[in-house]
Order: sequence, then C-alpha cells, then structure tokens
Amino acid sequence: MNDNLHQLRCFGCGARISGADAQPDFRCAVCGDLFEVEYPGWTERKGPDRPNPGALKWLWRERRCSSEALDHSGVWRFRELLPILDSFGNAVTLREGNTPLYHLPRASKALDIDQLFAKHQGMNPTGSFKDTGMTAAMSVARERGFEWVACASTGNTSAAMAAYAARAGLRSLVLIPEGKIAWGKLAQAMDYGAFTCQLQTDFDGCMRVLTEIVRQSPIYLLNSVNPYRLEGQKTPAFEIAEAFDWNVPDHLIVPGGNLGNSSALGKGFREMRELGLIARLPRISVIQAVGANPLVRSLAEHHGAKLDPVEANTRASAIRIGNPASWRKAARVIQDTDGCCIDVTEAEIAIAKAELGSEGLGCEPASAVTLAGLKKMRARGDVASGDTVVLVLTGHTLKDADYTIDFHRGELLDKEETAGHELEIDTLRRNAVAVEATPTAVLAALKGVCE
Ligand code: F0G
Repeated sequence: MNDNLHQLRCFGCGARISGADAQPDFRCAVCGDLFEVEYPGWTERKGPDRPNPGALKWLWRERRCSSEALDHSGVWRFRELLPILDSFGNAVTLREGNTPLYHLPRASKALDIDQLFAKHQGMNPTGSFKDTGMTAAMSVARERGFEWVACASTGNTSAAMAAYAARAGLRSLVLIPEGKIAWGKLAQAMDYGAFTCQLQTDFDGCMRVLTEIVRQSPIYLLNSVNPYRLEGQKTPAFEIAEAFDWNVPDHLIVPGGNLGNSSALGKGFREMRELGLIARLPRISVIQAVGANPLVRSLAEHHGAKLDPVEANTRASAIRIGNPASWRKAARVIQDTDGCCIDVTEAEIAIAKAELGSEGLGCEPASAVTLAGLKKMRARGDVASGDTVVLVLTGHTLKDADYTIDFHRGELLDKEETAGHELEIDTLRRNAVAVEATPTAVLAALKGVCE
C-alpha cells in the first residue's frame, strides 16, 4: 500500500515540488524560503482522499484501545493527517505523544482564569516536544535510505534525534554550542550514541555550519527546517482538540525559539478547521525571552515582514536563538489567529517556573515563559477570566536541574534582574538545608518552617 499523499509547497513563492526533490537544506531553489507539506487530495470536497471528520474522530478514539504498536503512538494514531510515508510500516516510534493535559488550580486562582491548563510535552520519551516531530522526520529518513542524520541544537532536538536514530539503526551527528546547553540534554545525546561536536559558536552558528555540511555530504538534516518535523509536531493540536471534545480552547500559548513548534501547532489547527474537525481556531501566542526576542521585534517594528537577527542571550538555553528559521511561518500563525507575541524577563521566567513547580508540574525554563507571558497578557486584558487557556510546556524539569537548584539557592539571578521581584522569589525559594542526623534536629528544623 502507498500511504503517501503529500507534496511540498514553498512558503515564500508557492512553488510546488515532490518530497523527493527537496534540496538537502530544505530551502526553495527559487526563493530560498522553507517548504510546508501539503496534501492536494484534501482540497477536493468530495474527493476519495479527503478525510471524513466524523469517521476520523471515531477511529482515533478506537485506536486508544488497539493492540497495534503504531496506534500506541500519539503521533501515528492520527496518521490519516500525516500521510508522508510510502508505507506506515517504516515509522520509527518510541510511543511519543499522548501527553497529559493538566488543570493548573493555583495559577488558575491567582490569575482568575478558571479554565487554565498545561499540555505537558515534556512527558514525551526523551523529555521534550521534539519527539513528536522526530518520529515523523526520522521515519522519512529511514524510508529514503539515509545512513546518517544530523541536527544543530540547543539540546532537546539532539536528544530526540539521537534516540530515534538509535531506534532506526541510523548514525547521528549533533552540533551544539559549546557550554551553552543543559547537561541533561548533552548526556542524552551521548547515551543514545550520537557523534556529538561542541562548536565554539552559538546555535545560529551551528546551524550555518550544518547547512554547509548537508550540502556537501549525504546526511539527512533533521532540524525543523525539515518540513516533516512539523508534520509530527502538529499532532499535539489534534490531542488538544480531542481533549476538549473538538471545541478548541480560546488561547494557546507557546514558547518561541527557532519557531518551528508554533508554526506546526498553527498548521495542525488550520488543517483541522479546513477538514471540518473543528469550527474555529484558537488564538495562538508566542512568548520569547527578552534577550532572545527577534520575532517580538519583527512584529512590533516590521509587522512581521522582515526579521533582524539578534545576538541571543537568556538562561532559558533552549530558546537562546537569535535568527529563527521558521519566523515567517510563526508570524503568519500569530497574525491569522489574532494572537500576540511578547517577551518576558529572566526573573519572570524563573518565578513562573517555580510556580509551575509548586503545582507539581516541573518544566524547563524555556517552557515557563508561557506562564510568564500569560500573566502579562492577562494584565493587559488580552485574556479574559472566562477564556479557556492552554500553555504548552515543552520540556521536562530534569533536563536542566542546575537552573532549578541555582534558583532555590538564590544563585540564579543577579541583583538587577531580581529588582522588584524580591518578595515573590523569597516565597517560592525552597533551598535544601543541612541538618544533623537526629529526629530532634529534623523536627526542630521543621518547626522553623511551620511557624
Ligand atoms: N522549549 C524547549 C524546551 C525547546 O527545546 C525549544 C527548542 C523550544 C521551546 C522552542 O521551540 O524552536 O520550535 O520555537 N529547542 C530547539 C533545540 C531549538 O535545538 O532543541 P521552537
């Protein structure tokens, strides 16, 4: 059976090519922009390839009880909406997706938003949302017979790629900025057997080097410029819609780094609406760190028509990106859904992360920008009390334990960054204390906390 119904369309000039004709750097030969996967059979109203929304909803629910391995993946469970492989038998899966959607009672109360949820993508097999995209693009790499795959990364992409390459029996090359990624992520790439190069540059520099490498050798590029990554990363949109019984939330709030994730989720919602699975789109907003905010600037200064790269700097190392590849796609998603794009400070990120932690939901600093951004949006009146809001938490707290420990020890932020937030930070900090190894001493220490 041939499951493949896709072609690639250039996001810039609209040129269409077959998937097999893409250049190694996934840039359009005509205008240099990125491609998007499209499914021509879906546009013909009564065509044989156009999915039937009622049947799909039923089928996807049924698959939750299926014994077939592919149905256990929260990505391939929705495979009718990602027909990118000649055979689904080539799918490389680690049972990604199907991540939890948690209510946030404390933040909900503090912000007076009753329906506030977190979609925790950090609960994926390698601890980040990248797994949903990696299962899709790695499957294409395997089907097309590549032996080597590669990515530049701030850490999570490399962890996911290394794991999926290992499962697929492929070799993987990782380029990371030296000293600028969290240890947990580097450890994963090593553990899964990647050939890891630490380059003395930033993420944007690693990306430039890798683009040249894939032009010169038969290595398959697995950064989110690869449009198949985004096909996998659109599936959490399906999970969210399904969780709300196909009534979408009013707002979806996503962190922004290289801007593949916001683009992918936007595509997922757009396709569901086009196919009649949902009636409207959520407003999709993207949050960046103040020190790595090129999209915020682009939208404020050029209405999203032009992006000036910035020299990125933030402790949320996953989103320390100054020249994001998918900025045009993300700008379109924000504009089409009437979302917003704002930035948050280092202190706001650290506080939001600790607040999520105090709800029992650990996450990476890059994920916590969503709650920090929501607070600002609420204060500005962009979000109403009766709105349903979903924060996309992108990575697991254990990815970057150093950040968390530094925060609780009071060693993360400098005085200038803390200014005006001292009280909030003091109430959230929970440093470990050294206590003599006797019950009396522990109880005495506990008394101090209870008073
Ligand atoms: N959150 C986490 C935890 C990430 O790892 C990333 C990106 C983002 C948010 C931003 O998502 O790039 O799609 O806008 N990490 C990439 C990496 C760049 O290499 O792991 P984006």
